[in-house]
Amino acid sequence: MAKLAEPRCPVTHRTGPSAAAARPLRSAEYATGRSGPEEPVEAMDRAADAADFLRLLADERGEAGAPTGRLAQVQAQIAATGSYWQTEEELAWGAKVAWRNTPRCLGKFYWKALTVRDMRHLTTADEVYAALLDHLRIAFNDGRIRLVMTVFAPQHPGAAGIRIWNQQLVRYAGYRQDDGSVVGDPDSADFTDAVRRLGWAGGTGGRFDLLPLVIQLPGQPPKVYQLPDEAIAEVPISHPTFGWFTDLGLKWHAFPSISDQRLDIGGVSYPAAPFSAWYTAAEIGARNLSDGNRYDMLAAVARGMGLDTRNDRSLWRDRAMLELVAAVIHSFDRAGISIIDHHFAARQFVKHELREREGGRITPAQWELIVSPISGSATPIWQRTYEPVMLRPNFFTQTAPWKTPELPADAGGSADGRVAVTSAARSAAAC
Ligand code: ARG
Repeated sequence: MAKLAEPRCPVTHRTGPSAAAARPLRSAEYATGRSGPEEPVEAMDRAADAADFLRLLADERGEAGAPTGRLAQVQAQIAATGSYWQTEEELAWGAKVAWRNTPRCLGKFYWKALTVRDMRHLTTADEVYAALLDHLRIAFNDGRIRLVMTVFAPQHPGAAGIRIWNQQLVRYAGYRQDDGSVVGDPDSADFTDAVRRLGWAGGTGGRFDLLPLVIQLPGQPPKVYQLPDEAIAEVPISHPTFGWFTDLGLKWHAFPSISDQRLDIGGVSYPAAPFSAWYTAAEIGARNLSDGNRYDMLAAVARGMGLDTRNDRSLWRDRAMLELVAAVIHSFDRAGISIIDHHFAARQFVKHELREREGGRITPAQWELIVSPISGSATPIWQRTYEPVMLRPNFFTQTAPWKTPELPADAGGSADGRVAVTSAARSAAAC
């Protein structure tokens, strides 16, 4: 993943009343890719972050000045315990603003409509699993996809927090073959290996096997949960006019649910705060199903269309990609499941940007992550420039618990490369 530019002071780019939260982040906190380092946050910073956040909340509520009573209470709690417990309102509003602030999302127009489920009181992996099943049901909403986030307990400073090992709640396994190829989603191959080391027997070995959920509570071994089929909505992909398209045997899950990012609100870290939204069709048709290091379907689609795949100049890749995106839109529409196209999505983003400007705020964005992978120059985002500044609250990448740290030689590894569950738990507890 592309590294973000060195921080430029966002304060100079802001004019509105919300400049309080515009403190630049320490460089290590910039999203540097899935395996980027996670920096411990010192208590001093936590108090400052909390104060910034409470001022921002008061500002946006239209109150004059800082909320001195709450500020004193929070600072006393931080002094006594190292952290503080946010009110439900602080949590819900902070989560929405984190979404508004993330530079990695095209769908921010709807930031105020996010439903935030407060699940901070849950204390067992089974309860977390049940809450995730509810999350999937609420987000699916019989096809009228809802914007939902479920927030689990915050991380105590310096200690491990609740982690969902999956990158998304619903994803397909990627099985490595002896010849180095992958059956399924190559993007999930490392995670699939990790879950198998935890004892998951694997699914059918096919291209669209649902991965189980892996939930880990602090100080405990990770627990593996096989999602029941009825909890997952999937859409078989067909094409509006090419009858042969169904022979490709493609499908995709109904909506994304990002589960590996850390939500940071006012100096409080929520390492498990999965969120769901509807898809833009190009994410599936022009990336997941067509990227060379994902399902790599362009050549198969082009062959079905009778195009000459030996010659770049037949534009077979471009034509195939277009038809794949058209097929995704058609299939979701037919299934009655919300999906948007990249033209609508881009227009909404620009509307959001203009609305934010009127409110005195900038719209942080990483251009290469929000521009459409297909026909980008036919959308208004192409002509615009954005700054990927990281305002707070925000989402941060965190190191996958199954990737780090290196296991010591005696930590449960064995000759066949399998690793005992307990050693994985130990390694995660160290971060
Ligand atoms: N691109 C990711 C995927 O294909 C999902 C990222 C979030 N997308 C969204 N529409 N909220 O699964």
